[in-house]
Amino acid sequence: MPSSQPTRADRFSFGLWTVGWQARDPFGDATRPALDPVESVHRLAELGAYGVTFHDDDLIPFGSDDAARDGHIKRFRAALEETGLVVPMATTNLFTHPVFKEGALTANDRDVRRFALRKVMRNMDLAAELGAETYVLWGGREGTEVDAAKDLRAAFDRYREGLDTLAQYSVDRGYGLRFALEPKPNEPRGDIFLPTVGHALAFISTLEHADLVGVNPEVGHEQMAGLNFTHGIAQALWQGKLFHIDLNGQHGPKFDQDLVFGHGDLLSAFATVDLLENGGPGGGPAYDGPRHFDYKPLRTEDADGVWTSAAANMRTYLLLKERAAAYRADPEVQEALAAAGVPELAVPTLGEGESYDDLLADRSAFEDFDADAAAARGGGVVRLAQLAVEHLTGAR
Ligand code: GCO
Ligand code: MN
Ligand code: MN
Repeated sequence: MPSSQPTRADRFSFGLWTVGWQARDPFGDATRPALDPVESVHRLAELGAYGVTFHDDDLIPFGSDDAARDGHIKRFRAALEETGLVVPMATTNLFTHPVFKEGALTANDRDVRRFALRKVMRNMDLAAELGAETYVLWGGREGTEVDAAKDLRAAFDRYREGLDTLAQYSVDRGYGLRFALEPKPNEPRGDIFLPTVGHALAFISTLEHADLVGVNPEVGHEQMAGLNFTHGIAQALWQGKLFHIDLNGQHGPKFDQDLVFGHGDLLSAFATVDLLENGGPGGGPAYDGPRHFDYKPLRTEDADGVWTSAAANMRTYLLLKERAAAYRADPEVQEALAAAGVPELAVPTLGEGESYDDLLADRSAFEDFDADAAAARGGGVVRLAQLAVEHLTGAR
């Protein structure tokens, strides 16, 4: 049995809104009582997490006066100190209050946009105070159901203006925050702006402080769009933009299920962990940030089920990490990788110092190249897939 007891070194973190979800959905009432953030901090620490994250409103109910606000922060801080849990990331709720029904940073109503900016800035102050390094922006209400009801190009201008303003604020205040945009194709809006990792990366390149802005991809969100999550984070890593990650599970394109990590597409979760843990230079980790779970305990569960599911996220991650290491260490896998030509992709297509003129002069590259013989060679890909399945099922 592999060691799957999480430790701080694993850098697992959870949002207060995940374990604290009362399971109210569009069709039914809450099935669980409210959870005190202080209790969540203690329970998560006992389970082996190292970090906790929050939206402003998870910690301080919307509309609290200053005295109440200070009280909530004080209790939370005490819990952090008692447990040693850290706050690696914070974010803003720009979606629950009806004021954001038509958008926040991209609302048509300018006063709403100004209010949204102030709400983010206020929570950035707290995030910095608590030592957060990353500030996530998920634009759940930034989008449309009716495209005629919004000037779409102006919406991108305002989105960029918002990000530029917030990044400048962090720089001027010396907060040192990095921003991570979280893509999602739809839900709650019919269509959300920056629907995928690719859209977000392209948008970021237009920002004034592009270097301070990256992405926070969520497994289920890419899969809702029918996309390959592992490819999405691979490109973000390749561009130095994987600033944070939301791990969970999803069964293909449907509503956002927010299942426990690995409880959706397990093979994809295996590929994700293999990339994060073994995809870096020299086969080491490709990502050193928090392993953050953004999931919802199923509506069927009681309080015990909440903590069972929180533990399940971490245990599943560690099991997949152990399986990925075993996969990589298996001589047959190494041989199958070589047979499939996987290592060869690291070799540049042109030789060192070779120009396209040299390529044009190389008869073996074209005139004498036997395309039919190359086409006849098998890829050896199925063998790799089956070896992964055998490692996952414990057959190897
Ligand atoms: C969702 C999102 C959110 C965000 C969170 C952080 O689909 O509801 O994933 O959970 O991650 O708001 O900004
Ligand atoms: Mn989600
Ligand atoms: Mn998320």
